Amino acid sequence: MSNHKSARASRRPSITARSYQTRMSKFLGALKPNSVAIIVSNPERTRSNDTEYPYRQSSDILYLNGFPEPESALVFHKVSRKETKLVMFVRAKDAAREQWTGIRAGTEGAAAHFFAAEAHTVDKFEEVVGKLIASSDNVYYKFGRNPEFDKRFEKIWAEGQRNLLNPENILHGMRMFKNAAEVRMIEEAARISAEAHIAAAKRCRPGLKEYQLQATMEFIFTDNGAMAPAYTSIVANGPSGWVLHYISNQGGLKRGDMVLIDAACEYQGYAADITRTFPVNGKFTAEQAQVYQLVLDAQEAAINAAKPGATLRDVHETAQKVLSDGLAKLGISEEHIRAFFPHGTSHWLGLDVHDVGTNGTRSDKGKARKLAPGMVFTVEPGLYFAADDTRVPEKYRGIAVRIEDDVLVTEAGNRVLTSLVPKAIADIEAMMRR
Ligand code: GLY
Ligand code: MN
Ligand code: MN
Repeated sequence: MSNHKSARASRRPSITARSYQTRMSKFLGALKPNSVAIIVSNPERTRSNDTEYPYRQSSDILYLNGFPEPESALVFHKVSRKETKLVMFVRAKDAAREQWTGIRAGTEGAAAHFFAAEAHTVDKFEEVVGKLIASSDNVYYKFGRNPEFDKRFEKIWAEGQRNLLNPENILHGMRMFKNAAEVRMIEEAARISAEAHIAAAKRCRPGLKEYQLQATMEFIFTDNGAMAPAYTSIVANGPSGWVLHYISNQGGLKRGDMVLIDAACEYQGYAADITRTFPVNGKFTAEQAQVYQLVLDAQEAAINAAKPGATLRDVHETAQKVLSDGLAKLGISEEHIRAFFPHGTSHWLGLDVHDVGTNGTRSDKGKARKLAPGMVFTVEPGLYFAADDTRVPEKYRGIAVRIEDDVLVTEAGNRVLTSLVPKAIADIEAMMRR
């Protein structure tokens, strides 16, 4: 048994050194000659006094070389196509601090394990980067990512004398396209998250609390080596599902209600994002089945619309059309579609759950971008009827349904990465009977 487990553990997918090197050379290749590009770590966040929230590195650094520590920066120096190097700034080794907060790579570790041609302690940032900037024509830096580094950069940035460019225009363009190794990471996050959704559905019964299903799921995330939930888990009984980002999870699970669960893990930095809605007692009422089937029809139509050349706007409009037509059949005026389906159908997915797209995940430009193989996004239509909404026939009030899967665009169309979690009504009822 333990042998079996460790054999399985050793086959866990991970990003190889070669992938990091390929990404960094592609990034360097896209920089202008005579340039320096500075990518800074995420700040640490204090919870209280000397206690910090769990640290999560900037996804751009995770993408480029995987360096996990705070107070660090990657500085790419490009003189010409042939003359390039990575200079890293990292926390100094410090035994007294390391005993409290963990072992640090230090400058030697940065060079040995993170591809730095040159590594300095972070107190040298202004001095070393100042010199690099002075001898460069173009500087890539994005303000707003880390206030501490913004202050330090401002000290050495001679406004007007160099061209200030945004490195994210290059990096995020790269991050949008997932290669096979990255798809395997998202698939692993999806596999673990699917196991968690199935376990929650099987455990679900009236009388439990929402947080008990959250606990079941997050146990499975951690037990499978996922770093953390990819976002705060949502477990919403009945009308609470109307609150799109309901995260308190303190309510009870009630017979006759459905429960909406939007939860998934992050594996090696990569997120899954899955929502399922099912009846607490395992059997849909007629009204629940009507609303649920309508959302499922919208979701499946939207997934079918996701193929190379289409856009996320097309995917959204497809879902919206099915929902609008369906509302009319339920006796609900379709003019209220925006009230009952108040969010977009899709967002990009990757190292961030709301991942980078063209000029921002939620921007129109991002939604208008033509889909192409390697892009990954969610498809998550929903219908949300508040318990007291008189625009809705009484029998449907308090019903909230969202169904969310993760989709990879392929040459032939698309592949759903989260298909392990049942979503057809009969399959959900069969799973919950067991
Ligand atoms: N879990 C957040 C979302 O679905 O966008
Ligand atoms: Mn989502
Ligand atoms: Mn979600």
